Amino acid sequence: MKNHLLIAGVTGSGKSYLENQIIKRLSGQFIYIDPKMVELADYEGQPTCKRYAADIDEIIDALDDAIAEMDSRFTVMRARKEKLWSGSYLYIVIDELADLMLSDRKKTIRQQLATLATKGRAARVILICCTQVTTQDVIPQMILVNLPNVICLRQRNAQKYRYLLGEYNGKLPEYGVCFLVTPDRDRPQKTTTETAIETLIAQE
Ligand SMILES: Nc1ncnc2c1ncn2[C@@H]1O[C@H](COP(=O)(O)OP(=O)(O)OP(=O)(O)O)[C@@H](O)[C@H]1O
Ligand SMILES: [Mg+2]
Repeated sequence: MKNHLLIAGVTGSGKSYLENQIIKRLSGQFIYIDPKMVELADYEGQPTCKRYAADIDEIIDALDDAIAEMDSRFTVMRARKEKLWSGSYLYIVIDELADLMLSDRKKTIRQQLATLATKGRAARVILICCTQVTTQDVIPQMILVNLPNVICLRQRNAQKYRYLLGEYNGKLPEYGVCFLVTPDRDRPQKTTTETAIETLIAQE
């Protein structure tokens, strides 16, 4: 999966379930940001786990690590005159963006995420963010526009669907069906979550 991904939906809509399905299918190194300390805890200590961070100071430190890794990749790329990192992917999985963006360190975190979202792709540093909350303060437009893959699960109301998708095409069921946005399609596509995962994994 070569583009950043946002997974958004109300509580119980299947964000963490989907995130885990996706992680299992990806290869590379991972940084896990798990403010709830449950959904991603099983990955801590695994060989592909570069960092696991749960409290806010650890999270800021882990995101700084990711930025440092990205910058060192750019230095190597400049020397090699490459436009795209040819080494392995580094995925940064954030289970609940709202917990970070509404914390008292939100200014720092917003800045870090904006840096990763705008520059990460070429260095193969990819964000996978889950969020329950889809307000401006949690996903500012300037971050949203840099997350070109979106899996929109069930939302609270039509306005939330519109914020994420730019349109409203009816409510989704409890879980298993989503609207998928990818950079190569003009409009969101209604599909099963399994098909959405297949589509994202196949992205090259
Ligand atoms: N596509 C699916 N197929 C089968 N079961 C699913 C699917 N999606 C979610 N579930 C089940 O629904 C329940 C809620 O899913 P999950 O915990 O992923 O929701 P969530 O959006 O992460 O909620 P929260 O915001 O509270 O963290 C879980 O028991 C999960 O196993
Ligand atoms: Mg969850």
